[in-house]
Amino acid sequence: MKTFIIGLTGASGSIYGLRLIEELAKRDYLVHVIATDTAKQVIPFETDIHLEAFLEDLQQKGYRVVLEDAANFFSSVASGSYQTDGMIIAPCSMGTLAEIAHGISDNLLDRAADVCLKERRPLILLARETPVNLINLENMLTLTKAGATIFPASPGFYSKPTTLNDIIDFMVGKILDSLQIENTLFKKWS
Ligand SMILES: Cc1cc2nc3c(=O)[nH]c(=O)nc-3n(C[C@H](O)[C@H](O)[C@H](O)COP(=O)(O)O)c2cc1C
Repeated sequence: MKTFIIGLTGASGSIYGLRLIEELAKRDYLVHVIATDTAKQVIPFETDIHLEAFLEDLQQKGYRVVLEDAANFFSSVASGSYQTDGMIIAPCSMGTLAEIAHGISDNLLDRAADVCLKERRPLILLARETPVNLINLENMLTLTKAGATIFPASPGFYSKPTTLNDIIDFMVGKILDSLQIENTLFKKWS
């Protein structure tokens, strides 16, 4: 049974992370969720969804989702000896991306990402900013060299999306593909 960590930051696009949590939970994976303080403000602002209520709803349906305290370094996911199948930060702000690129682990989200890098586990950052500056690009390069995957939140349109959900699912499906998790969230090119 797989275990994933989902990081939610204060970048725009919180719906991507929420959809990803649903998709992983639906597969009966264990999902640890870490939200930064800013994410907790941006999520309800953008989506009208409250993270705690969203996760409680999934728990009541029997899914295995755990909301971590971003200030708790005693959490299992702060340690490399706790086995996980990787971490996805969706959406990832340029601030969090910079912290991880520079090894600054001053919250649990940063620390869990740092653990994924040191343990050579998948680390995907759904980077959300446009345009990007030189510092952002250099940080992305640093992370790519360290083994992370930068996933710009830039959906393709060749799958002919007709709804906002189609566009969200395109990105979530691409992330699942990258983790070799079967999905039919978007029409694959054939
Ligand atoms: C509504 C809203 C949208 C934002 N969108 C972005 C974004 O897309 N990308 C980004 O890097 N920062 C964005 N920010 C700024 C970040 O929230 C800010 O840099 C914050 O310090 C990030 O902290 P965190 O990475 O700890 O969540 C946004 C802020 C707000 C209020």
